[in-house]
Amino acid sequence: MMGSFSVKPVKVGICGLGTVGGGTFNVLKRNAEEIARRAGRGIEVAQIAARRPNPKCETGSTPITADIFDVANNPEIDVVIELIGGYTLAHELVLKAIENGKHVVTANKALIAVHGNEIFAKAREKGVIVAFEAAVAGGIPVIKAIREGLAANRINWLAGIINGTGNFILTEMREKGRAFADVLKEAQALGYAEADPTFDVEGIDAAHKLTILASIAFGIPLQFDKAYTEGITKLTTADVNYAEALGYRIKHLGVARRTDKGIELRVHPTLIPADRLIANVNGVMNAVMVNGDAAGSTLFYGAGAGMEPTASSVVADLVDVVRVLTTDPENRVPHLAFQPDALSDHPILPIDACESAYYLRIQAKDHPGVLAQVATILSERGINIESIMQMEVEEHDGLVPMILVTHRVLESRIIEAIAALEALDDVVGNVVRIRVEQLN
Ligand code: HSE
Repeated sequence: MMGSFSVKPVKVGICGLGTVGGGTFNVLKRNAEEIARRAGRGIEVAQIAARRPNPKCETGSTPITADIFDVANNPEIDVVIELIGGYTLAHELVLKAIENGKHVVTANKALIAVHGNEIFAKAREKGVIVAFEAAVAGGIPVIKAIREGLAANRINWLAGIINGTGNFILTEMREKGRAFADVLKEAQALGYAEADPTFDVEGIDAAHKLTILASIAFGIPLQFDKAYTEGITKLTTADVNYAEALGYRIKHLGVARRTDKGIELRVHPTLIPADRLIANVNGVMNAVMVNGDAAGSTLFYGAGAGMEPTASSVVADLVDVVRVLTTDPENRVPHLAFQPDALSDHPILPIDACESAYYLRIQAKDHPGVLAQVATILSERGINIESIMQMEVEEHDGLVPMILVTHRVLESRIIEAIAALEALDDVVGNVVRIRVEQLN
């Protein structure tokens, strides 16, 4: 039964009526009563800014403007929901809304990863909230889980499949042998992909999200420019199959790990043991594993993109904003989980200084002694081999694929070893290298 709320409803303005904007409007309308019972107050969409209508959204009599700044400047509006995406206009819109004393909810990972430090400083100055749960992993409340649920822990590492489009492509390629470009087109049609899909397939979108997760996990400022990013465009079906034969799955993983020297912040294709839960996260689904010293490993799983899953996180943020509107601004949950004057300057490590195990595929001529030369190059550099698999001679080129998995080693050392391997007379072309994470 609906409670009786003596206070007036909170008025919100939605900027952007695309996939997420449309979903947010629909969820707010459909679940209005239940949401009000949770928030303690009604929530009214008082204005929408959209360049065109969304056929999946019945906006009825809600006023619509084509200018997003009408919303930011509307004195009636308490909360601006930024769902236009991108770095430029969204940045201006959010700063304008904050300047006008409005709270902000955004799903914009690029904006937060790149301009978050500035936006949060402005928000603190003006005493308003900026909430961004929907920016990472769509419908999974992973920011809340790390920032609040795991607040007791010293986080050691986290690893996630945090781009739904990329995971959808890898899954369809592996399970159905579909072509990359064809699956990408489908992901675009389903509204999963970014406006510029290279953000998905080159790992930029995942690096935005990983940057945010790392700051919240380790209490460091947002440093997107230091994230290492490698996409999935160069992955071949051959490597997917060899990985399977070794008992691994290839996933596009974001990894943030605390070490004594600094923090590893990297996005790249990764071999994961096939029996790990996260290796079996398929399609557009996302999953984030977080390892803390008290809780151990936890896994958060759910839809990482799409209309209503992302709207679920936007509306959850909105409910939080409505709840804290009545509390002391000094006692709000800090943006990056740690108090702003308590962020650490623990550095982000350059990729050369990061450690990982590696899968190597070498195309060798079918001569005696090649395997011994390969083993010597690795052992001279202190690289321990975990497994090795030599395949039959390939009919089409007469070469022998040699597949190796190493133990953990510094990136700089494997790069040196790969250069030595590629210089061998009996090795043809480039050595394929994919990182391996055991996640245990
Ligand atoms: N393009 C993103 C993805 C949307 O595929 O995960 C959700 O952030």
